[in-house]
Amino acid sequence: MCGIIGYCGVRTAKPILLDGLKRLEYRGYDSAGLVVVDGKKLNLVRAVGKVSDLEKKGIARPQPGHCGIAHTRWATHGRPSEENAHPHCDCGGKIAIAHNGIIENYLDLKEELLARKHEFRSETDSEVIAHLIEEYYDGDLEKAVLKTVQRLEGTFGIAVVHADSEDQVVMVKRGSPIIIGIGEGEYFAASDANALLPYTQKIISLNDDELAVLHPGGYHIKNLNNEFLQKQIEIRQDRDELADKKGFEHFMLKEIFEQPEAIENAFRGRIVEGEGVSKLGGLEPVMERLKSVKKLVIVSCGTSYYAGLCGRYIFESLCDLHVEVEMASEFRYRRLKLDGDTAVLALSQSGETADTIAAIREAKRKGALILGVVNVVGSAIAQITDAGVYNHAGPEFGVASTKIYTSQLVVLTLMALLIGRYRGLSFTEGSAVIQAVKKLPRQVKKILTDIEHIKKVAQEYSRYRDFLFIGRQHNYPTAMEGALKLKEISYIHAEGYPAGEMKHGPISLIDENFPTVAIVSQDSTFDKMISNIQEIKARNGRVLAVAGEGSDRIGDVCDDVIRVPETLPILQPVLNIVPLQLFAYFIARSKGCDIDKPRNLAKSVTVE
Ligand code: G6P
Repeated sequence: MCGIIGYCGVRTAKPILLDGLKRLEYRGYDSAGLVVVDGKKLNLVRAVGKVSDLEKKGIARPQPGHCGIAHTRWATHGRPSEENAHPHCDCGGKIAIAHNGIIENYLDLKEELLARKHEFRSETDSEVIAHLIEEYYDGDLEKAVLKTVQRLEGTFGIAVVHADSEDQVVMVKRGSPIIIGIGEGEYFAASDANALLPYTQKIISLNDDELAVLHPGGYHIKNLNNEFLQKQIEIRQDRDELADKKGFEHFMLKEIFEQPEAIENAFRGRIVEGEGVSKLGGLEPVMERLKSVKKLVIVSCGTSYYAGLCGRYIFESLCDLHVEVEMASEFRYRRLKLDGDTAVLALSQSGETADTIAAIREAKRKGALILGVVNVVGSAIAQITDAGVYNHAGPEFGVASTKIYTSQLVVLTLMALLIGRYRGLSFTEGSAVIQAVKKLPRQVKKILTDIEHIKKVAQEYSRYRDFLFIGRQHNYPTAMEGALKLKEISYIHAEGYPAGEMKHGPISLIDENFPTVAIVSQDSTFDKMISNIQEIKARNGRVLAVAGEGSDRIGDVCDDVIRVPETLPILQPVLNIVPLQLFAYFIARSKGCDIDKPRNLAKSVTVE
């Protein structure tokens, strides 16, 4: 949430800053700005809207200079406007800052600064940072930033430039990510490595309460006690994925089509067929403790939360384990019994989600074993968990998560298989899971070949303004996630419900203008689902079913059917969600929505 990029080096900064912003834009995109230090002056441009709007505005404005910072915003304090866009300046117009995170004590600081005659121009929490630095600046920017940070409460990744220090970018991190990129005679700062991949593979990730200074001759890193730190340089092997959409119209569609590969990457090298078990190196250090935990609590947000709900069925079925699933944002308000016998499992695509991080901290305090399933290597959650598993799904740029969701389900299955095999799951049962997992990429590919049919169905349903999604058991989280996908990218009202709950309220909404998407599997819930569908039909509701290939009767009771291959019940959500992702995609496309950057959303949410 909010992206920061900084540059200091031999090249002209502006094109690099703009390119970096485009690569970070999925983090927030309601306004953007950049500042270049040019001959002891700050040259600032800000614009409401996307980075392309900033670019257009900046064309008429030459901004030479080799050092600068830029920011793309997801509004927290103050509506998207030019004044609220970053970078923010001090009163003297010499200092500019870009900030990601929230300054929780900004009102107190603002009051203090107002009393000292500082003039504020924005409604943001961030602007206090520029004014505080101004208060403390006595010719040494680094020292002024160190003093400022001592006064800040909350989370931040901050980049700062000063007109009088033409060749210096100062950064500091607490809670929100900041990395440094090391090039030849040039140095970069960014919120994530994707922004830097075309320029350098050499990355240093700052930890909380570390400060870095970039200048053309080098860089240094300190802790907040002003002591120098030696940090290891990582060589990133990631491909520069943002370079093109590989012929797809949107990243979301590309990522939907990457699911067979992402699923394969989730299990490649992680199954031991001869023993009917999985092998997850990341869990080995805690395996002894994990074998005997009495309770598992899964915490996550958004799509990852729905993956967690599927995880409950997977762990209960394979591990005979008591499982609770909590929305990370609500976790701290519960009085859950968490102790050494509890494992808390955080699911997070980005590894940055503030609510999930807060939940982990709470669980740590109570002594639970903390595990993570994270896609972004080295991210905050990966660093603060005791052990975990990476998805290896490659970067996901579409704000609505698709391939990470299905990849999470596969990783959860492998984790449950590993633990389950120590808790009574037989070799035969374990082998059946492995065989089913191995078939998934082919089965997803098969669904993807049905794209024209799904597109046609989506077009027919695109005229409706409300949807109900229903499912039972493991199809219930799929109903929630299917509804979320539709809401996120098409702005159509959609509710996901356990099918059995429908009669307790939502059924009152049903009429010929309120269609239902029913997710139906040929399993123990089938007959009950048919009854629920009949109840909707009896009230003139139109019903689209996502159903297994084998369920003949479904065609007789529903108006439209999208077929999916069948697998084990615990893995059926991996297949059932794929047509629903496409359904949401094609409805959003027919409405002309900005699919990869839906309004008001951001890919990584670093505020609580
Ligand atoms: C945001 C994104 C969602 C994502 C959620 C949790 O809301 O828009 O796509 O599911 O955050 O993110 P995480 O990175 O923790 O999985």
